[in-house]
Amino acid sequence: MPTITTNSGSDILGRYYTRSEISSFLVEQFDITSPVRLLDLGAGSGSLSGAAKTRWPEIKVLTVDIDPEVELPNISAGRTSVDVFHEHFVIDALCEDLSTVLDCANAPIDVAVCNPPFITPKWRNEFTAILEDAGFNDCLPFPSDVDAGLLFLAQNLRLMSEGATLGIILPDSLITAKKYKKFRSVLINSYAVTKVIQLPRGSFHHTDALASIVILQKTKKHQDDVRIYCLARDKTLSEPLFIDVLHASERLDYAFHFERIKAAITTCKTTYLRELASDIKRGSLSSSQMKNANFPVLHITDIKEKDIGKWLDFSAYSAKTSHDYPFYVKAQPGDILISRIGRNLDSKIVGVKAGTFAVSDCIYVIKCLPHVREHVLAQMASREGRDWISAHAYGVAAKQLAKKELVTFPVTLD
Ligand SMILES: C[S@@+](CC[C@H](N)C(=O)[O-])C[C@H]1O[C@@H](n2cnc3c(N)ncnc32)[C@H](O)[C@@H]1O
Repeated sequence: MPTITTNSGSDILGRYYTRSEISSFLVEQFDITSPVRLLDLGAGSGSLSGAAKTRWPEIKVLTVDIDPEVELPNISAGRTSVDVFHEHFVIDALCEDLSTVLDCANAPIDVAVCNPPFITPKWRNEFTAILEDAGFNDCLPFPSDVDAGLLFLAQNLRLMSEGATLGIILPDSLITAKKYKKFRSVLINSYAVTKVIQLPRGSFHHTDALASIVILQKTKKHQDDVRIYCLARDKTLSEPLFIDVLHASERLDYAFHFERIKAAITTCKTTYLRELASDIKRGSLSSSQMKNANFPVLHITDIKEKDIGKWLDFSAYSAKTSHDYPFYVKAQPGDILISRIGRNLDSKIVGVKAGTFAVSDCIYVIKCLPHVREHVLAQMASREGRDWISAHAYGVAAKQLAKKELVTFPVTLD
């Protein structure tokens, strides 16, 4: 067993098990439909892997825990005695050659869940290799004082196959502490961080610790922003905040950015559309799909220049039931619509007063936080706003407005 120093008052192995509803919630955050092999490092009694097993009954589960006493009642249940669906290893998850023990080269891991121990293990030389392989070696000011959360994250990333997805619970220190700023920057720039969800206190047994779920993929993908959410005590999930990578490196917690954006709003500072919009999507129907659709679809020709800046009733475009087009991007009351393409795209900017309807792929649907919608529409449709949009569109004849430009539209709130 490794020598361990603990955070004050903590269990020596950081055994703060995840409440079952949080485990199910974490597993619901994955977009994958049928993963093959799941890893759970520091599995404890299997709260996370048990939830994964409930979602994907056929998945092969590998659990690892240093504590020989743990029992995993929820994972193997219902299977034969020779359990091909579950293997458990009593071993230190932070040993350098864990990949060989788990046979990752021959049987790749495509999904991982993890709630690491809430401790600071005594530094060992093999941690350097683990951190190096994951790309985190240069970003730690005090390598002798590293949260187990960071080591478990790095170890997961080493063991997972390329493109695999990890859902990990990270302590608030890694999410907010200044000393981990460089780590956050490397994390966001080296991996695809899909979402960060701040959890309510009381999400774990026997501790009030603050933590966040981070969902990420082992793949290098450029990202302009990170989606940060907050889960309330009553288990309702907030709308996301879209935080640009610089601010996200500063901190990754919802509460901080929510207050920062609110302060910017109340002190009349200029902020960017991406900070005020909970979602910006391009419509999903191409012109040929529109022609064949058996339901109405709003296209740019349906947005009249004379209506710029107005909140309009589009109920005539609503399909009879929303089941008619479940997979298409839809506009709803409160959304702002702007043309993505066209010579006069800067004059096709309207709000939706009524109607829920599909839109063509020539239109962006912008969902803004309720208290800023009016400001956003008014400023996009103002003379200055239109000039900005024209200047940021590209193309000689039919102009196009890229989403990466649109999200930087400046909004001043008073
Ligand atoms: C915070 S608990 C989480 C347990 C479980 N995953 C859950 O979510 O309920 C951390 C677990 O990591 C285990 N652990 C601590 N240090 C470890 C190490 N070096 N290697 C493997 N497991 C370890 C503890 O025994 C404990 O079960």
